[in-house]
Amino acid sequence: MKVFLFLALIVSFNSYAQSNHDHQDKSKGGNQHGEMHDGDHHGMGGMHGGMHGGHHKLDKTTLKQFFEPLPASIIDEKKNAALITLGKKLYSDTRLSVNDTISCNSCHQLNNFGVDGQPTSPGYEGKRGGRNSPTTLNAALHIAQFWDGRAKDVEEQALGPILNPIEMGMPSEAAVVDKLKKIDEYKPMFAEAFKDEKDPIQYKNIGKAIGAFERTLLTPSRFDDFLNGDEKALNDAEKRGLQKFVHMGCANCHNGVALGGNSYKKIGLVEPYETSDMGRFAVTGLETDKKVFKVPSLRNITKTGPYFHDGSVKTLDQAIEEMAEHQLGRKVGPGFIEDVKAFLGSLTAKGKE
Ligand code: HEC
Ligand code: HEC
Repeated sequence: MKVFLFLALIVSFNSYAQSNHDHQDKSKGGNQHGEMHDGDHHGMGGMHGGMHGGHHKLDKTTLKQFFEPLPASIIDEKKNAALITLGKKLYSDTRLSVNDTISCNSCHQLNNFGVDGQPTSPGYEGKRGGRNSPTTLNAALHIAQFWDGRAKDVEEQALGPILNPIEMGMPSEAAVVDKLKKIDEYKPMFAEAFKDEKDPIQYKNIGKAIGAFERTLLTPSRFDDFLNGDEKALNDAEKRGLQKFVHMGCANCHNGVALGGNSYKKIGLVEPYETSDMGRFAVTGLETDKKVFKVPSLRNITKTGPYFHDGSVKTLDQAIEEMAEHQLGRKVGPGFIEDVKAFLGSLTAKGKE
């Protein structure tokens, strides 16, 4: 039933986006749709026969169709205490890089919302890759890891950067294992974390430990309180922003428990977007996957700029504006941006806003 509803929403959204696009193509000078209001008054309802039939307030059923509060936990922290402690240590250990200079925490800083605040990140020699470092906070909830989803989970993902020639630069799995075996403090920690194994310092176990630690990185926010029934958890501007976010169609992609992270979508779905990064095409080889990326989670988004897969978008205002234009074919004004930005602020870890 839930799946069916969701599909129906996607279908109605797609036909909406299509018809909106047609309008703009036919009328270069802009008609009432092209230069439309910034979503303050009508959004997708009514006018387009869209999904919410002109409702201005979001009822509980609509909210539940789109969003889900964070679970209290996604790993048994007691049972996995030794594994998590080991993973936490590995996460911040620069000895996992070939010249002992960088760790996971260099690019995904835990005291900085899981990011480094740079468009792209310097590796062990200062060289940069082509993509922005996404936050590790709540990442374990995503359907897959990386902008293009090429790793299936956080356990698999963690093994990539260690051997990546421009990130941590270790020459081989064996070299990493040899290096860790020479560090005394790791012997008892791996033994404790992998009790049943004779030779616990194994490459894949590094991924298991770091992944277990990352599964603890959930950041409950005021929006979760709101979803759990505390109507006062959001102020008026935030509630307006939430309505606009849903009515405009942002929530057709940024939905679920992470407000993203659960599907792949093309950047430039309605208005083409310039980028040389072909995204998921590199993983699947499918023509239809060109410029397709995992929809990013919007949790802590006010703190994790710069934005987009290449870090080319400096401010959240610009990210919101570009999303409306490229994904929905809509021009939005300052009122829309202010309110949606206020709503997005309610997704920040409680106590760290
Ligand atoms: C030099 C900077 C750098 C280092 C060091 C680094 N990462 Fe990353 N990380 C990135 C970049 C850039 C991406 C995105 C790459 C892509 O999508 O192709 C990424 C992606 C990720 C993701 C995916 C998140 C998502 O939303 O899909 C996770 C999880 C992650 N890194 C964890 C780690 C862990 C664990 C380590 C240490 C073993 C680590 N990273 C080391 C830069 C770094
Ligand atoms: C059709 C799906 C879709 C719709 C609709 C959509 N987005 Fe996105 N959003 C994406 C994808 C895909 C990306 C990643 C784009 C990239 O990096 O190239 C993204 C990226 C973002 C980012 C930057 C995230 C980051 O970590 O860099 C923000 C902020 C954002 N969207 C907000 C919005 C808002 C606000 C709306 C409504 C006005 C919206 N999105 C509508 C799919 C969508």
